[in-house]
Amino acid sequence: MAASPVMPLCHKISLQGLGKVFGAGAKQTAVLEDVSLEVAENEFVTVVGASGCGKSTLLRIIAGLETLTSGAVLLNGQPISGPGPERGMVFQDYSLYPWLSVMENVRFCRQLKIHRERSNSAREVHAAIGRSYALLELMGLLERKDAYPNQLSGGMRQRVAIARALMPKPQVLLMDEPFGALDAQTREVMHDLILHLFNRERSTILFVTHDVEEAIYLGHRVVVMAPHPGRIDSIHVVPLPAARHADMKLTPEFLALKKTILQRIHTTSGVYTDQDVLQRLTEIESFTH
Ligand SMILES: Nc1ncnc2c1ncn2[C@@H]1O[C@H](COP(=O)(O)OP(=O)(O)O)[C@@H](O)[C@H]1O
Ligand SMILES: [Mg+2]
Repeated sequence: MAASPVMPLCHKISLQGLGKVFGAGAKQTAVLEDVSLEVAENEFVTVVGASGCGKSTLLRIIAGLETLTSGAVLLNGQPISGPGPERGMVFQDYSLYPWLSVMENVRFCRQLKIHRERSNSAREVHAAIGRSYALLELMGLLERKDAYPNQLSGGMRQRVAIARALMPKPQVLLMDEPFGALDAQTREVMHDLILHLFNRERSTILFVTHDVEEAIYLGHRVVVMAPHPGRIDSIHVVPLPAARHADMKLTPEFLALKKTILQRIHTTSGVYTDQDVLQRLTEIESFTH
């Protein structure tokens, strides 16, 4: 009997020795060096690291918005060449079109596709309209579909941006500090919403944040990056059940991992996070009272 061929393990995203250099000559800066990472299908991977360690550059390269200098980025085992509908991106600053309504923003890229490919069948267009309604309902924004971005809160605007990114059913969602500008309470609501979405859409998510707690709460694995040049310092599997609940943030496993990751960030970059500053203030206050 002939031996069955060994199927190569195909990851959704595969970063292989990725390097990025900005500038030329004496002004050359290596921003990313030898970044290798495999992200499985339907995995939620979060990335943390000090400011300037290349997190956004990494995401932009995977999105096809930035070129790489060395190494390779594979999607479903194939090298990427520029942006594609199989990768959706959400930025921190909402990036909505202010002159378009909520619904028009969500449908914007779809609209472009309709103009580009005149072969769209009525059924396809109908399905896209249905999806835009379904996504806005999921985001709790159906009643605001005719509103303009400046009439919405930050949390609502970001939900529109997420709905827009999900519109073409991307296989991979790339999120760059999407909740960075939101207040703590809105953030918590967004966390549970994104987990719900992740379970519903069965996509693969690569999520950059500077908030270690957010990274652990959302991720299956947390990638810690180190600066100068940007590289992967360590990868941590989150020891929590898949179905997350806010109470888990107080479990010993959660707190221990948070401490480990914060220590890695301190050690590799010498940067202190807001949480550390607060902790120090509390210590000083309890000492002086
Ligand atoms: N287009 C660019 N040209 C030159 N340097 C850049 C460019 N984009 C980013 N950088 C530099 O690359 C480094 C990493 O930036 P970035 O990826 O934004 O880091 P992070 O998202 O982790 O804060 C920074 O030092 C930044 O100044
Ligand atoms: Mg950034």
